[in-house]
Amino acid sequence: VTAEKNGFDHFMLKEIHEQPKAYRDTIRGRVDESGRKVVLKDLNLTEDRIKQIQNVHIVACGTAYHAGLVGGTVIEQLVRVPVYNDVASEYRYRSPLITPETLVIVVSQSGETADTLAALREAKSNGAHVLAVTNVVGSSIARDADDVLVTLAGPEIAVASTKAYSSQLIAFYLLGLYLAQVRGTQSEDQVAHMISAIQALPEQVESMLENSDAIKAYAEQISHNQHLFFIGRGLDYAVAQEGSLKLKEISYIHSEAYAAGELKHGTLALIEDGIPVIALATQDSVLEKTVSNIKEVKARGADVMVITHEEHVASLLKSVDQAFAIPKTLPLFTPALSVVPLQLLSYYASLALGHDVDKPRNLAKSVTVE
Ligand code: AGP
Repeated sequence: VTAEKNGFDHFMLKEIHEQPKAYRDTIRGRVDESGRKVVLKDLNLTEDRIKQIQNVHIVACGTAYHAGLVGGTVIEQLVRVPVYNDVASEYRYRSPLITPETLVIVVSQSGETADTLAALREAKSNGAHVLAVTNVVGSSIARDADDVLVTLAGPEIAVASTKAYSSQLIAFYLLGLYLAQVRGTQSEDQVAHMISAIQALPEQVESMLENSDAIKAYAEQISHNQHLFFIGRGLDYAVAQEGSLKLKEISYIHSEAYAAGELKHGTLALIEDGIPVIALATQDSVLEKTVSNIKEVKARGADVMVITHEEHVASLLKSVDQAFAIPKTLPLFTPALSVVPLQLLSYYASLALGHDVDKPRNLAKSVTVE
């Protein structure tokens, strides 16, 4: 078993470290030689049908749902088409409004999740084109979908999904750019600029993985708490939800992810002296807004750690207790970087508490029953 873990103590840590490779493998062959165009050769979705898409539904469970939240924002921003995200267990029973002009994207690492498979069948029976983003080529979901966009993360063993999630983000970036190319919603130069930012992500993840000591120390510090909060706006909120799920799943520490601007509508009542708040502040367009939310929780005694870009660390340290810098990329692509410290945080918190990191209680890797 040690050999399979490649010298790492746990599959989860190994898989976190495999992310640069997973990104490279997922990008490879999907950008043309000039580096200016995304090519998704195997898609059955024709250019005509892409032009006819009126709305996009993104459906999945758990961490894959969280990847879909990022994907939804990416598609909405790049393609300017309305996107609706839902968890599969809700979607399948709500008789969703699906037409042949709906593109339904299901996301599943295993490709075997029962609710996601049922949602796929519901969508197909209503005439939608269903595209599956999955990590397993021969899976039930891959077989039933009209199209498959494979993530090349390699086998994921740890119950807590890490490299599958982040590779799903890469798949969404490429898909978003491809749809934008076909519909002409982004210029060739914009697409080229974004492609080079995506290609830089693997190296940026490597640099973060080389500097994980601060996160480890912080994880040990918060592992003594029973409750904590994640806050953020926009894509930071989407990543906050993933960070919160990851922490709950393997450390059993209760946490909530909140849209930073929603705090004062109720949750702020829970903020008291010493409660940890992890704030994601990577989206420059809403940075000032997030900072004012940070000040609100600080004023009520919270202990705030912020994840942001290097250039904001000095000024943010005036309002927070600790800061962790992530490398600079375009706003849409920050989730592929900011999730890494959150994965390490939950890993090291679980480790500090002596839990079974790779096999958390009550959970299965693949949920094949409803
Ligand atoms: C992730 O850490 C979880 N174990 C879980 O939420 C998982 O993402 C979910 O069950 C969906 O699985 P799938 O991607 O294989 O469909």
